[in-house]
Amino acid sequence: MANLATDRWTRRDLLGLEGLTADEILALLDTADEFFPFATGRDPAPQALQGRTVLNLILEDSTRTRTSFTLAAERLGGRVIQFHAGTSSMSQKGETLLDTARNIEAMGLDAIVIRHKEREAPHRVAEAVACPVVNAGDDAHEHPTQALLDLLTLRHHFGRLDGLTVAICGDVRHSRVARSNLYGLRTLGSRAIFVGPDLFLQGLDDIRGEVETATDFDAVLPECDAVMMLRVQFERHTDLDLDLDAYRRGYQLTAERLARAGDGAPVLHPGPVNRGTELADEVTDGPQSLILHQVTCGVAVRMAALALCTAAADRASGD
Ligand code: NCD
Repeated sequence: MANLATDRWTRRDLLGLEGLTADEILALLDTADEFFPFATGRDPAPQALQGRTVLNLILEDSTRTRTSFTLAAERLGGRVIQFHAGTSSMSQKGETLLDTARNIEAMGLDAIVIRHKEREAPHRVAEAVACPVVNAGDDAHEHPTQALLDLLTLRHHFGRLDGLTVAICGDVRHSRVARSNLYGLRTLGSRAIFVGPDLFLQGLDDIRGEVETATDFDAVLPECDAVMMLRVQFERHTDLDLDLDAYRRGYQLTAERLARAGDGAPVLHPGPVNRGTELADEVTDGPQSLILHQVTCGVAVRMAALALCTAAADRASGD
């Protein structure tokens, strides 16, 4: 059996990284490292979710997150129900999110994974149900398991998570990944710098005083140990006037630009990558890219989140 850090994690839910202690974040990462050898499914994993049922309530498009929560639960011996909003009673019949969650929970659920377009929808579901809730992305707010997999990737590379400077560059305005990483890096003693054109540094009012921002990517890169690039979220740009050519000139990470950063600085991206927009192919597919390692870490992190939250819920209910 893997050594789960159940003594260091007592929360039923994982709703965000804001407000977690350093030890809670490290408990998740240490447990993810225990599961990492089993993340690809080649060797049988400890059956920490045997007999458990997880609901994937993924209400926005997703490839990596849906798939990796599914693989994480199944590799730990659990089963997963995939909820599809389009064919559910939420679609034509107008059933509310909370009624949907409560009704499926009444059939017997051990955890809900939720992605929703509204900020704090996972928090509202968590108040309405008794089982653990894991946030898989709420609006431009938080995406805690993404930041945890980014942190795990950085820890695998650097062997530590304190004293690092990480540029988080791109469409920060629409990114839940940026915020969760800011909270995680800061809590563990590292520095995040949000980088992008002014247009993408707006909408950060609630964290304005807490985060360093920069518009000159080339000037910031020499200070950076790692570079996290964000996707330009075109589907959320209903009222934005982005000059794409200027954006590419100022912010696309090319091999030449990357050479300005710390020696061999690793490159991260949560995916999906807009090839040729935020990342040049030579960097996406180049030797400093950790993008596919991030994806593998994602399975391990989601195994840890599901195992620790369900274990905490069991303890709270006296099982
Ligand atoms: C991110 C998301 O959905 O917030 N992707 C992901 O979960 N891997 C980032 C993005 O869509 O750009």
